[in-house]
Amino acid sequence: MKLQAIRGMNDLLPSESGVWQFVENTLKEIVSRYSYQEIRFPILEQTALFKRSVGEATDIVEKEMYTFDDRNGDSLSMRPEGTAGCVRAGIEHGLLYNQIAKLWYLGPFYRHERPQKGRYRQFHQFGAEAFGIATPDIDAELIIMSARCWEALGINDLKLEINSMGTSECRDKFREVIREYFSKHQSQLDQDSLRRLDTNPLRILDSKHPDMQALIHEAPKFTEHLDDDSKQFFDTVCDYLAQANINFEINPYIVRGLDYYSHTVFEWTTDKLGAQNTICAGGRYDGLVEQLGGHATPGVGFAIGLERLIALIEANQDTAKLNATPDFYVIIAGETAQRKGLAWVEKLRSALPSKSIQAHCGGGSFKSQFKKADKSGARYAIILGDDEITSDQVTIKALREQTDQKQLDFEALVEWAS
Ligand code: HAM
Repeated sequence: MKLQAIRGMNDLLPSESGVWQFVENTLKEIVSRYSYQEIRFPILEQTALFKRSVGEATDIVEKEMYTFDDRNGDSLSMRPEGTAGCVRAGIEHGLLYNQIAKLWYLGPFYRHERPQKGRYRQFHQFGAEAFGIATPDIDAELIIMSARCWEALGINDLKLEINSMGTSECRDKFREVIREYFSKHQSQLDQDSLRRLDTNPLRILDSKHPDMQALIHEAPKFTEHLDDDSKQFFDTVCDYLAQANINFEINPYIVRGLDYYSHTVFEWTTDKLGAQNTICAGGRYDGLVEQLGGHATPGVGFAIGLERLIALIEANQDTAKLNATPDFYVIIAGETAQRKGLAWVEKLRSALPSKSIQAHCGGGSFKSQFKKADKSGARYAIILGDDEITSDQVTIKALREQTDQKQLDFEALVEWAS
């Protein structure tokens, strides 16, 4: 059997790691400016955690989880999303009760979906969750923070759509309104929607089936069935966004594929990536902490799909320059140079802590080392031969531009390179 990666699970090659590091560092920096702190939680959790949070009747839990019994016979699942694990860890370590917690996480998630462009079985999310704040200011601030992320990454054409699902009572009532509406039109429902009529009728609103669109368009709208408090909550979020000059559209059909939401839900989408066009999604989930065994604590958050975000950045800008290349490549030719070379390069690394310096290892002629120096992408070659070692005068040659080569002693080299 030929060994190869599992379908839908990608290797990240060195030629791509520059843009990933740039994106991850930028996101970390921005959320820490809003005082979010990192939390890490396991990839494997009890299956029951996802059943009780994401919901038994969702596609994720019904069809997409990697679930197996471990050697003790316990049912475990690979995390399909981050909010559940974040809440579980927060409850377990007393981070949420009676206090404000602002947390972020980054890592791989797993869903057994049909792989296609922008949809993978292992994908990465950068998530942010804020606990302990029941007022709409934090919903708006999270959205404003995500907008700042796009700006920092040079993305300016994402569309923000928001909706409100109201309180859980509103949602329960609206679910019945929707069930009744679609029940009257059963003959027009596709297979999936027929099944959802019993289990999760709200999800029918999210169907992408072309034949269903007219029916969905005529369906009752969440925003028209909100109670007064929920409506006011939603209007306030919208007002805060308008005050902060964030453009948005109210989309009454956003219902999200996870069951824990209440009040605000939102999605940032692009028209550059085809069908898998949601870059970031989230919302409020005031009932979740209690549902998972904690004290009632409000929560709101979002997760960014990094593969999609990076595909978008790659479509817009040249990211090759983000790949790390050495500043210097040290060519080491000659017997004395070979003996003393590594120690000399160590001394140089100590003197130039912010530079990346690749020492040639593996021997070979001057010519072949030069070729490798060029291929490494280094800006300069430093030539260290026997004469150079004895006379303490190395030659520096620019590899990417036409300038005269220099001869410098160690101290002058350090000064020039600093
Ligand atoms: P979600 O909408 O399921 O929400 O996923 C968030 C984002 O993850 C999506 O918008 C997409 O960019 C990315 N994503 C999801 N599935 C895949 C996949 N198979 N391949 C590539 N990218 C994918 C959540 O997961 C919620 N936990 C978000 C949240 C946080 N809500 C509140 N806090």
